[in-house]
Amino acid sequence: MYTRLLHRFYSSANMPPKLELIAAACENMGIGINGDLPWRLKTEMAFFTRMTSDTKDANKKNVVLMGRRTWDCIPDKYRPLKGRINMVLTSQSLDYGDKAITCKSIPHAVEVITRMQDQVERVWVIGGSSVYEAAMKSPHFGRLYLTRIKKKFECDTFFPAIPSDFVLIEDPTVPQGIQEEKEIEFIYEVYERR
Ligand SMILES: NC(=O)c1ccc[n+]([C@@H]2O[C@H](COP(=O)([O-])OP(=O)(O)OC[C@H]3O[C@@H](n4cnc5c(N)ncnc54)[C@H](OP(=O)(O)O)[C@@H]3O)[C@@H](O)[C@H]2O)c1
Repeated sequence: MYTRLLHRFYSSANMPPKLELIAAACENMGIGINGDLPWRLKTEMAFFTRMTSDTKDANKKNVVLMGRRTWDCIPDKYRPLKGRINMVLTSQSLDYGDKAITCKSIPHAVEVITRMQDQVERVWVIGGSSVYEAAMKSPHFGRLYLTRIKKKFECDTFFPAIPSDFVLIEDPTVPQGIQEEKEIEFIYEVYERR
């Protein structure tokens, strides 16, 4: 009995984290323009902050994992994203001091997070394009939280194709139905792999 409990403890302690993606895309699947968001939607931004910050365990934090350009896009006064462990993917040898941890790839980030998992509750992949794509293909993919903005915006960066085996699911922590701000409608969707 004791051995079985110990085994369960150690095997769950070494479980790699699930990657949860969070993104907002408009009708043409755009997510960015000129290193910025194409829209300003306060309620959508508040949703992003709540989802990526909230933890059940007050002793743990969530990771926000992002590409180097997304990090560069965050205004200085909001960087690092507060209350969260910031991780940046880059092929370069960049050093952000105690603001952010840099990683060379998604598998490298998963390895680093697995080592610090006693401090980590959820891992949020927050973009951009190629990071979303790699995370959706990763064996560690967990969920995609996608805000669909029901309007077209001029964009230069796009959300990648959603794999055909992704299905919509319900999450009670996500507001249901059509949301609206500044006469722009949007809806929160949640996907898992079938
Ligand atoms: N609407 C949304 O939800 C949302 C979310 C995030 C971002 N955005 C927007 O999207 C734009 C930025 O996104 P982006 O797609 O251009 O860039 P990005 O994915 O944020 O950054 C690309 C860079 O990240 C690094 N990188 C990406 N994948 C990697 C991997 N697998 N391994 C190692 N390094 C990797 C590389 O950095 P190095 O060049 O340093 O090697 C690459 O040049 C901005 O306009 C931003 O506002 C929108």
